Amino acid sequence: MLIFFVTGGAGFIGSAFARQLLRQFPTCKVINFDALTYAGNLDNLDGVDEGHHHFVLGDIANRDAVMAALAEDTDAIINFAAESHVDRSIASAEEFIRTNVLGTQVLLDCARERGVRRFLQVSTDEVMGSLPEDEKAFFTEDSPFQPNSPYAASKAAAEHLVRAANHTFGLDTVITRCGNNYGPRQFPEKFLPLMLANAMDDQPIPVYGDGLNVRDWIYVEDHCRAILQVLEKGRSGAVYNVGARNARRNIDVAKSVLDILEKPHSLLRFVKDRPGHDRRYAIDPTLVESELGWRPSETWESGLRKTIEWYQTHVDWVTRARSGAYREFYARQYGIEVGAR
Ligand code: NAD
Ligand code: TYD
Repeated sequence: MLIFFVTGGAGFIGSAFARQLLRQFPTCKVINFDALTYAGNLDNLDGVDEGHHHFVLGDIANRDAVMAALAEDTDAIINFAAESHVDRSIASAEEFIRTNVLGTQVLLDCARERGVRRFLQVSTDEVMGSLPEDEKAFFTEDSPFQPNSPYAASKAAAEHLVRAANHTFGLDTVITRCGNNYGPRQFPEKFLPLMLANAMDDQPIPVYGDGLNVRDWIYVEDHCRAILQVLEKGRSGAVYNVGARNARRNIDVAKSVLDILEKPHSLLRFVKDRPGHDRRYAIDPTLVESELGWRPSETWESGLRKTIEWYQTHVDWVTRARSGAYREFYARQYGIEVGAR
């Protein structure tokens, strides 16, 4: 029986990945290890096969907790657990260093001690910094590390630690670097779910700066399939960039969402720019396509429609996710004019 140790599996991408594992390997065992921070949500795991999925509440930076949950015969650790929001890292970086850097090292140490067969680190294109606006510039696996936010710097540090564990100790590791994910169950502080939730409620949509920053969008299920393929067939020590060739300006993304929802563009509000805001991300996914045969299944149009439909039919999920600590963050981030109820 295959045993997968998924960290951060109550978050947006990790929960989609846990579902995908259970569909693909119905007899496997998934240990889902998550600290349930503000971004972790057990609602994201509703309906998973409890016979094969075991949730463990725990912190990846706590070695004893990881060792207690990690079985000897674990086939793979897939590390999604992270502090993942750039704006929060600008407000305070400490948790990012603890979870993203220290937590990754703890997992690598535990993987070696338990003889885990493979370690997959879920990383981000943001470790490579910002591209010029030139439409011909893309991130490849050889692009230099130039992280610009504390979040990106912490993810870059984690990648270095993974590489070092492979090089020095021979741990079988692989790394995936993806762009901006969208899809069901994304915490509504990230741009796409935030604007969806606000627009559905006829609330203003905050657009940072001039709205011309470019992000490369991928449907979450496509990202998860790429992770699975890298896990199964990726070369030990390799890095794979994952993207759907779908780079778009923020303002165009916002207008598409408003058009599909049949809401007026007058809901758009240009607000103060994010400090150090990366201008453009665009991923060249040639390696993962040619070496592993991965291709995205969703187009931007089909993925966006699915995402919007999910949020329209899961209003309660948004309300629950937005309760509590999130409200305080929102008030601090945007002040009362934007998003005021
Ligand atoms: P998320 O914020 O939705 O989920 C993160 C999960 O990690 C949450 O369930 C949280 O409870 C858990 N977690 C946080 N700290 C923890 C700790 N110390 N111990 C155990 N669990 C902890 O994030 P996401 O969007 O699902 O991203 C998942 C991973 O993918 C992250 O590593 C992120 O850097 C990476 N990534 C995300 C994107 C994106 O667009 N969302 C793009 C590329 C890479
Ligand atoms: P975000 O979802 O935070 O992802 P990332 O910073 O990791 O790319 O933001 C996506 C883009 O949208 C980014 O260019 C910042 C911008 N943005 C806004 O314009 N308004 C917002 O309220 C947020 C949260 C982001």
